[in-house]
Amino acid sequence: MALRTVVVPAAGLGTRFLPATKTVPKELLPVVDTPGIELIAREAAQAGATRLAVVTAPRKQGVMAFFDRDELLEETLEARGKTDQLEKVRAVNGMINAVSVNQERPLGLGHAIACAESTLDDDEDCFAVMLPDDLVLPFGVMNEMARIRRRYGGTVLCGFEVPEEDVSNYGVFEIADAGDGDPTVRRVTGMVEKPDVADAPSNIVATGRYLLDRSIFDALRRTEPGKGGEIQITDAIALLIGEGHPVHVYIHRGGRHDLGNPGGFIRACVDFALNDPAYGPSLQEWLTSRLSEDAVSYAGVTD
Ligand code: G1P
Repeated sequence: MALRTVVVPAAGLGTRFLPATKTVPKELLPVVDTPGIELIAREAAQAGATRLAVVTAPRKQGVMAFFDRDELLEETLEARGKTDQLEKVRAVNGMINAVSVNQERPLGLGHAIACAESTLDDDEDCFAVMLPDDLVLPFGVMNEMARIRRRYGGTVLCGFEVPEEDVSNYGVFEIADAGDGDPTVRRVTGMVEKPDVADAPSNIVATGRYLLDRSIFDALRRTEPGKGGEIQITDAIALLIGEGHPVHVYIHRGGRHDLGNPGGFIRACVDFALNDPAYGPSLQEWLTSRLSEDAVSYAGVTD
């Protein structure tokens, strides 16, 4: 069955982005000029999904408001002949049907995903999860993952290779050959959330794209709190693997930005801005001079 729903966990407090996230949800922070949530909506629509189930907390309603049409703004831009801006504002209209799912308490990623169960139609046998903190580039990995599900059934995850010392920040795969000679696919034989480096089964880790079989909801109901006292999606997947459910991983060799912390977010902005015809050339020139040995910077001298 074709992918219909993408679940987007977006209820977090964004503590790594305080003080900005005191009033602005981190999913609305712009990568150049486009909020992370629009990039996710775009990726979901490109993967063929028609519904975006955004898991939010009551204090983050601005995320859903972003999907509402603003007729006054559109009329004003139109009257002023600001066609480029009008096009940008309208891009999200009709892109995908965004529905809000409430997560009352932050009990973990697995719990957030479980909250979205009732948004699925009765006949949906799989759905995707896209974490807005992860920008996985170029778009299109979900299509690769859907291809793998068509071949093997079950659940398909997205993995990428990291230096060994970084594994404890991620869900880590134990993998085996899938046996079909395709270098982008591995069979997952186990999965562990944020292990110590010494205990990690590999250096192939989960990035924020999941194509989950509907049976994950049943597994989540049977999953006890794990790392950090939270219900982990990693543990629910590990439970399914133990019960013989087929789980495969698509090995992503493209780019990735971590929008969940200022350091990663800045890289994403610079990367996107350098490719932008409006900002790229002058940014490149400024960066080159800023990075030259005799550059003087007064940034940060604000007290
Ligand atoms: C979550 C998952 C983790 C995964 C990561 C990818 O962790 O729990 O398994 O590797 O996303 O970004 P978080 O970054 O939310 O702590």
